[in-house]
Amino acid sequence: MALMIWEDKYSVNVNEVDGQHQEIFRLVNALDDSLLEDRAIIAERLNALVAYVVEHFNTEEKYMQETNYPEYEAHKKMHDDLVTQVAAIQAKFNAGETEITGEITAFVRDWLYKHIPNIDKEYGPHLNEKGIK
Ligand code: FE2
Ligand code: FE2
Repeated sequence: MALMIWEDKYSVNVNEVDGQHQEIFRLVNALDDSLLEDRAIIAERLNALVAYVVEHFNTEEKYMQETNYPEYEAHKKMHDDLVTQVAAIQAKFNAGETEITGEITAFVRDWLYKHIPNIDKEYGPHLNEKGIK
């Protein structure tokens, strides 16, 4: 069963960003579906998710900076905090010190379910006003 399901309420009204968010949902689901597989498969999916999330955060931060978005610093800090937490889990997993569990994928899901419709969505009108749609 898919852990994350896309709904219209997650749209930030910027096509590129919506597409990236949908890809993140797909990658979280792929990781969650692999939890009973070999560690190599889990590692591969975890790496794919982390790399894509970092790329996505860079995209959002680029748009926020380019448009002088007033909440840029606070927003970037939330991104950095998540990456720090997930990178620590990833390092422990790669060192064989922990497993990736449903609790971890649920943590990522909950973070995204809260961040996208509350924090990301707030830059939508600002970016739209600057011609980014
Ligand atoms: Fe986002
Ligand atoms: Fe964000």
